[in-house]
Amino acid sequence: MTKRPNPFGPDGWTPDRIGDIAGKTYVITGANSGVGFQATRTLLGKGAAVVMLNRNPEKSDAALTELRQEFGADAPVSCIRMDLAELDSVREAAAAVIEQTTSIDALICNAAISQTATRKLTVDGFESQLGVNHMGHFVLSGLLHERVEASKGRMVMVGSNAYRMGKKKIFFDDLNSDESYSPWHAYNQSKLAQMMFGYELQRRVAAAGGDMVVQVCHPGASKSNLISGDVSTLNKILIKLMLPFFQSAERGAWPGLLCATEAEVRNERLYGPTKRADTAGPVGENTIAPHALDRDAAARLWEISEARTGVTWSL
Ligand SMILES: NC(=O)c1ccc[n+]([C@@H]2O[C@H](COP(=O)([O-])OP(=O)(O)OC[C@H]3O[C@@H](n4cnc5c(N)ncnc54)[C@H](OP(=O)(O)O)[C@@H]3O)[C@@H](O)[C@H]2O)c1
Repeated sequence: MTKRPNPFGPDGWTPDRIGDIAGKTYVITGANSGVGFQATRTLLGKGAAVVMLNRNPEKSDAALTELRQEFGADAPVSCIRMDLAELDSVREAAAAVIEQTTSIDALICNAAISQTATRKLTVDGFESQLGVNHMGHFVLSGLLHERVEASKGRMVMVGSNAYRMGKKKIFFDDLNSDESYSPWHAYNQSKLAQMMFGYELQRRVAAAGGDMVVQVCHPGASKSNLISGDVSTLNKILIKLMLPFFQSAERGAWPGLLCATEAEVRNERLYGPTKRADTAGPVGENTIAPHALDRDAAARLWEISEARTGVTWSL
């Protein structure tokens, strides 16, 4: 298949395209390291305010200290504690965001865990990767979407190329991997679920005539802390061997920043790096594997996510 020319030119999208965002407010999950931290740096550097929703208070303090050293003690950055593996914590964080902000120009759903070595359940009983990467963000987005809509803002799902690896479908009969668990399968399924949710949300907003923009992206292969958690030694070794070929986390943040700020975005697109099998290089549009746009599966996933989290959307 012939690739379309990059809509942002041969060098792709870069943060130089970000216009005047001074005074705007961005909310981002998992911003104490990696891609989320770098996205926060860029947004602050452009004069916006950022609310980080982070799990680990010590790491958050370290991130805040570093950001205040770079952007000044009065830099408009704050942190609300949120653990996506506990839906009560997500609800509390969403309530705090509503209380502390008057508008949300973009909610960037970036936090994730990857390749958890053994099957674990979140507090609410979801397989941990599905629970953190999809269900937690489904709840957070559900509780904040009216504020985002009122702000004519955006929602950004930070997915992964992993959505096109492995079985390429949602295992509705074994969503929680009770019958068979593998770290890669659970990660692939969780990122596919998060991305399908993004495309389904696009369709629902369009059907309702809403103003909110929803976009889906991925950071390619970027140096970060993603495999520093509960990951098998073998997977840690394999990824460490590949690390020299990974791009910086700063570049990995560009697709999410594009989705949060760029005027020229369109529905049913996937933004990410466009070279080396879409793992690095100029940021533009990737070809979307058709299973991510499966409308029946996305509608079923939405219904199940509402039923199992108890969060019902007004869309
Ligand atoms: N790096 C890559 O090559 C790559 C490739 C494909 C997709 N991605 C995606 O890029 C996004 C950013 O990841 P990254 O590479 O920057 O990894 P990272 O450095 O590990 O950042 C992930 C962030 O998510 C947070 N997080 C994890 N579990 C959480 C929970 N239960 N509640 C709240 N926050 C939680 C982490 O916080 P803690 O510090 O508390 O752990 C961390 O701040 C993820 O969506 C990932 O799937 C990355």
